[in-house]
Parts: sequence; structure tokens; C-alpha cells
Amino acid sequence: MAMTGVLRPGHVQLRVLDMKAAIEHYGNVLGLWESGRDAQGRVYFKAWDEHDHHSVVLREADEAGMDFLGFRVDSPATLKKLAADVKASGLATQLQWIEAGEMLKTGERFRFTVATGHSIELFAEKEKVGNGMPLENPEIYPDGLKGMSPTRFDHCLLYGDDLDGTVKLFIDVLGFSLAEQVVAGPDRLQIAAFLTCSNKPHDVAFIRHPEKNKFHHASFILDNWGEVLKAADIITRKRVSLDIGPTRHGITRGETIYFFDPSGNRNEVFSGGYIAYPDRPPLTWTDDELGRAIFYHDRKLNEAFLSVVT
Ligand SMILES: [Fe+2]
Repeated sequence: MAMTGVLRPGHVQLRVLDMKAAIEHYGNVLGLWESGRDAQGRVYFKAWDEHDHHSVVLREADEAGMDFLGFRVDSPATLKKLAADVKASGLATQLQWIEAGEMLKTGERFRFTVATGHSIELFAEKEKVGNGMPLENPEIYPDGLKGMSPTRFDHCLLYGDDLDGTVKLFIDVLGFSLAEQVVAGPDRLQIAAFLTCSNKPHDVAFIRHPEKNKFHHASFILDNWGEVLKAADIITRKRVSLDIGPTRHGITRGETIYFFDPSGNRNEVFSGGYIAYPDRPPLTWTDDELGRAIFYHDRKLNEAFLSVVT
């Protein structure tokens, strides 16, 4: 196994204002599969081609936003080692172990708060429930797909103040690589960092922002540009609040569309992007080219896209 350590974003827990509306959105519009409900009233979803029990957890609350983002690591031994490394680094606060079973079908989790204020978790075990097809001689997709039907949860973009501390922890302690960054001004201050633990252009990204612990979007991957256009059709057909797109990013080269869930949490579905092997040199964008970096066709910044967060 060449890919070791932190494998991927494994789950995100989002706060929603109205669970019934959220279930309709995540289940029928985005097209995730509901995989469970727990005693706290949380509702669990997975994208169809994920084998783990869930990747999105919804919690009803008075305020929208993200509770935490969890990453799957390759083994319980790695979980113990990375927990010790995070503690020793001094780059995180509010370190805690959460017992197995607190989240449905999930082993123990190590949670900590990074410098930008976000709660990040690591876990090694979650029940495999499959993708609706056999592991031997499968079809290429299961029956019963609905809505946009992304194949998996891909990444989150998060906003916070101490970008340097968070990036240092992700790279130096958790083993992520910098795939792309945006720098600003004559001092080339890093204002955005796109980080990968795999060979995707990003598994998580952070933007420098005055407030701690802000959530910009959770993103789900589609097969191709045609599926992004179909997502745009669904957004209109289902009267979903559209943010931007369909368009393409300069950063990551992804083909994308953004929209909001009924609580105001931003979602993205996208396709494309390049393969980011760990030895690929990072790409740098300067803030005078930020329009092209974010929306490659319009080449213009969009204030709402940059500033609306939950
Ligand atoms: Fe994204």
C-alpha cells in the first residue's frame, strides 16, 4: 500500500436549521443515500460509491455551519501515532478522544482544534457497507440513483485567521502536501492553501479570513462536465439557491457549480482536476490574478462567493 497515513476526508458534520428540509436536499437534490439516524437525532448520508457507512452527518441546530471535519487514517496504529504527533506539535488545542460508537458504525476518533479554529478529527475504523453492488463481477453503477448522485464526498474549503498554524500542522504533522496556494502583496503573504493527502488537487483547503472557524463549502465529485451541467438543471428544476456556475476554476482546474442547502451551507459538485502526486511542484497564484484563479472564464472576483460563509 503506497498511500499511508491520512487517507482521505472521511466525514463532515454540518449544522442545519430544519432537518426535514435538509433531508430532502441532501437525499433527493444532491442525491446522497441516507444510511442511519442516531439517538441524538443526527441523520447520516453517504455518496453512492463510498464503501464506508457515511460521509455526511447532519445535526439540527440554531445556526448553520460545520461542527467538524474527519479524516480517515490507514490503521489504528497510525491513529495513535498521529494523535501523539499532534499533541507533541503544540499546534492544536482542545485535544480529546471520542469513544467508539459515539458516531454510528465508527471507531474511536481523535479530535482537536487547529489554529484557524476548526475542529478536525482522525479515525481509523468505520463499517464498510458497500456501494450497492457486489465486490465480485459488479455493474458500473447501482440501480436507484437520484438527484446529482456524486460518487463521493471530496473536500471542504474552510476560512479562518491563523492560516500559517493550520497549514503547518497539516503539512508537518499530518503529512499533507501543498498543491496550490494564493499569495498577496509585495510580501507574498499566503492567503489560500490547497492541501492534499492523496493524489487529488485538494483534500482540504483553507482561506485566510479575520474570523475563526468558518465554513465555505463541502464538495462532492461527479464523473464529468456533462454531470455538472445536469446538476445545474436539477438546481433550477428543484428551485435550489444557486451561488455560481457552471464554470471552471483555474486553481485545481475543476469544473464546478456552487449552490446552497436550505440552511445556507454552501455545497459544490465538480468534476475534473489533475493528479497531484506528492512530488508535483506546488502552483502559486498571485492576488492580481485571483479572478482567473477562482473563475477561469469570468476572470472576475465575486464578492458573495468570497465573503458568504457559515
Ligand atoms: Fe471546492
